[in-house]
Amino acid sequence: MKFFIDTANLGQIKEANELGILDGVTTNPSLMAKEGIKGHDAVMNHYKTICEIVNGDVSAEVISTEFKAIVEEGKKLAAIHPNIIVKVPMIKDGVKAMKWFTDNGIKTNCTLVFSAGQAILAAKAGAKYVSPFIGRIDDGNWDGVELISQIAQIYSIQGFKTEILAASIRSSLHIVKCAEAGADVCTSPLDSILGLLKHPLTDIGLAKFLEDAKKSA
Ligand code: G3P
Repeated sequence: MKFFIDTANLGQIKEANELGILDGVTTNPSLMAKEGIKGHDAVMNHYKTICEIVNGDVSAEVISTEFKAIVEEGKKLAAIHPNIIVKVPMIKDGVKAMKWFTDNGIKTNCTLVFSAGQAILAAKAGAKYVSPFIGRIDDGNWDGVELISQIAQIYSIQGFKTEILAASIRSSLHIVKCAEAGADVCTSPLDSILGLLKHPLTDIGLAKFLEDAKKSA
């Protein structure tokens, strides 16, 4: 399973990248706004900076909702850097645009996916990634991880090549459960990635080893 970080914060992107296990980055307009990135040029420059930090796929989201505008915006985003993946919402014109991008060699990430039916459409349109938002599904008292399993089963039976990118991750446990359920990628906030490191027995064991090492120093 590939590890992406879900943020537009450059410090956090650098910190995750320095771990050596980062495969890419996902962003969205809300994450950009959170970092105070305002205006078209600033947003485009920010994507470029992220691509220069991380050697992997970087999702950049369109904010257009009509076919022609999505295509024009996506072409500009894709031109920023070869690693840009154009993130397109799961709407009718989005599906149409993703098929256009697929036919024209531009890779896409289908976002705002909440059902297996939507994931089938994304695969049919040739999306490189499909992004089910598992945390938001859990928020509604449904089972986000169960959706990952269902999509993984469908894609396997049907031979779809689209990669399942589990998004809206809220915890380290989500990452483990998504790996178990067959996600190809998990995009997570930095604290959920770093949370994977933690186990009290590791801390206790290390303290003992270091203490005993002093005895033989
Ligand atoms: O990748 C999508 C993600 O950013 C949404 O996460 O926490 O806003 O549901 P969240």
